[in-house]
Amino acid sequence: MKKSSLFYHPNEQIDLVQSIFTSITDHYDFLNHLLSFGQDIVWRKKAVHNMRFFSTMKCLDIATGTGDIAFATAKKNPFASVTGLDFSSAMIQKAIQKQQKRHHSSSIQFITGDATNLPFPNDQFDTTIIAFGIRNIPDKKKVLSEMTRVVVPNGVVLILEMVSQQNHWIQRLYQWYLCSLLPSIAALFSQNKAAYRYLGESILHFPATNEFYRLMENAGLQKIRSIPLTMGITRLFIGTKKV
Ligand SMILES: C[S@@+](CC[C@H](N)C(=O)[O-])C[C@H]1O[C@@H](n2cnc3c(N)ncnc32)[C@H](O)[C@@H]1O
Repeated sequence: MKKSSLFYHPNEQIDLVQSIFTSITDHYDFLNHLLSFGQDIVWRKKAVHNMRFFSTMKCLDIATGTGDIAFATAKKNPFASVTGLDFSSAMIQKAIQKQQKRHHSSSIQFITGDATNLPFPNDQFDTTIIAFGIRNIPDKKKVLSEMTRVVVPNGVVLILEMVSQQNHWIQRLYQWYLCSLLPSIAALFSQNKAAYRYLGESILHFPATNEFYRLMENAGLQKIRSIPLTMGITRLFIGTKKV
């Protein structure tokens, strides 16, 4: 994988992302905790803390991966019904295995599906969330409009994502970490070093905060804000569906 992610055709990028996540399933949780120095757990908790349940008591976790957001949501909100959706059936299998092994709540359902074409009617969920998923999806507008479509009016849409940095020096250090150190550490544990190089690059190409706010607004969201986490390397974007 020599090309920068900027130069992938959208269809090529979708195939690449699907093959990456299918190949790293077994190491995904361990490497996530290692490479973020355990911060990913704190970031997910913050996201779950900002969910709201007030009408259907349902939450949709899009690009659920191995299901950590879905598990944290069900733990904090035992009354809620949670659906985890991902287009990689290998990831969904791993999430189901975790649910069975660790006796996680049976109020969670895991399904395969595409974030850009959600298999639900309008106005179904109180909260939709996508964590560390949207940066790998070329059609971000479509993901945001689908997330907005399936929440009830006043429902909360959350996007948790690692983002690029504005400060020149932090950006240079971060770039070295993401493009050199991170793939090398990942290579010690996973065969797929290129996957982690690609994932690092995709963080650097994430839209600036104001640009992302505009995408959220155009998708039909209001009261848009974001919370910077761990010196701003990750951001929790929050919006509410217009009534
Ligand atoms: C970095 S993982 C994040 C997993 C999880 N949300 C977490 O917090 O760890 C990104 C996930 O997005 C999924 N994904 C990427 N594009 C997708 C799409 N178009 N529809 C559904 N899932 C997608 C991948 O299969 C992968 O499991």
